[in-house]
Amino acid sequence: MEALVCQKIGDPTLPLSDSSPITISKSLPIPNLSSPTSVRVRIQATSLNYANYLQILGRYQEKPPLPFVPGSDYSGVVEAVGNGVGRFRVGDRVCSFASLGSYAEFIVADEKDLFLVPDGCDLVAAGALPVAFGTSHVALVHRAQLKPGQVLLVLGAAGGVGLSAVQIGKVCGAVVIAVARGAEKVQFLRSLGVDHVVDLSKGNVIESVKNFLKERKLKGVDVLYDPVGGKLMKDSMKLLNWGANILVIGFASGDVPVIPANIALVKNWTVHGLYWGSYKIHQPHILEDSLNELLSWLSKGLITIQISHAYSMSEANLAFAAIKERKVIGKVMLVMNTSAGARSKL
Ligand SMILES: NC(=O)c1ccc[n+]([C@@H]2O[C@H](COP(=O)([O-])OP(=O)(O)OC[C@H]3O[C@@H](n4cnc5c(N)ncnc54)[C@H](OP(=O)(O)O)[C@@H]3O)[C@@H](O)[C@H]2O)c1
Repeated sequence: MEALVCQKIGDPTLPLSDSSPITISKSLPIPNLSSPTSVRVRIQATSLNYANYLQILGRYQEKPPLPFVPGSDYSGVVEAVGNGVGRFRVGDRVCSFASLGSYAEFIVADEKDLFLVPDGCDLVAAGALPVAFGTSHVALVHRAQLKPGQVLLVLGAAGGVGLSAVQIGKVCGAVVIAVARGAEKVQFLRSLGVDHVVDLSKGNVIESVKNFLKERKLKGVDVLYDPVGGKLMKDSMKLLNWGANILVIGFASGDVPVIPANIALVKNWTVHGLYWGSYKIHQPHILEDSLNELLSWLSKGLITIQISHAYSMSEANLAFAAIKERKVIGKVMLVMNTSAGARSKL
């Protein structure tokens, strides 16, 4: 089968060649069903997350031995089932996530780890749901317990996890403030009905948010969702209410912020470090419930998955470049059986 292989640590945005960090292999064996409850999925689409980019660069917390097939969340069609499988049949449309291996034509998963994609939902888009929306749902609904009327501030709001947090915030009835860079991202966020959008490339974020809060007679921010870190996070702490929840999601800026414990004490802040993937080991039922709720929201049209770029496997370097250059609004996908050059800004 065809798969994308990370041969060595390095920059995945380099053009694919025999010596590039990522290469295409056409000779990997199709994975066998590994147990009676295993299911083989023919992958239709798989998403690029910032973590996949960091992993190939060698800057992610999990460092698999080389060579490896990267990739985490995916969607596709059931192609074969073990003789103990009860929940799925050949032809079913499914989505799921793995710690590695989704940048390939086929993947094998246990049936308990697969989710049925509801009728009417786009199969390609469903491949982008688990990691981004799953992370934001566990963070906002399970950890911060976001309530209607609370003020949610989302940093990196046009990125993969950021845009999902914005939408989940709206579903929960929060007043959502979004921070993103550039006119295109700002316009898109406004089109979603976000209550206030700040353009990072223009003016002072803190002043803009303070003016909005004053206009709306709101005291401050109740929940801070932070996939960016650095100075933006540090400045954002000035906006937090007494009793606020801080969701530490990631460090796209490359700078890990310091949250002063003395201020957290005085202001009764709760700081949540959140590593979504580790719920699979420690509390898998939380992930399962969360993804089921998200799929039901998707089928009711309460959330939508915005795919800004889709590429074929042989164009994976361009997909990683879109992430590196901060061009993405929502998600970047690798779509199988798409000829090179057929990709577009959807
Ligand atoms: N904790 C978890 O379980 C979990 C799960 C998923 C993701 N994450 C983490 O969350 C972060 C975002 O992931 P993602 O998949 O949403 O990535 P993404 O789609 O690339 O979005 C990242 C956003 O961060 C902003 N940003 C600010 N400074 C940046 C910089 N120096 N370089 C790149 N982007 C920068 C960009 O927005 P502007 O250009 O608009 O400023 C961009 O939209 C990553 O650190 C990732 O590892 C964590």
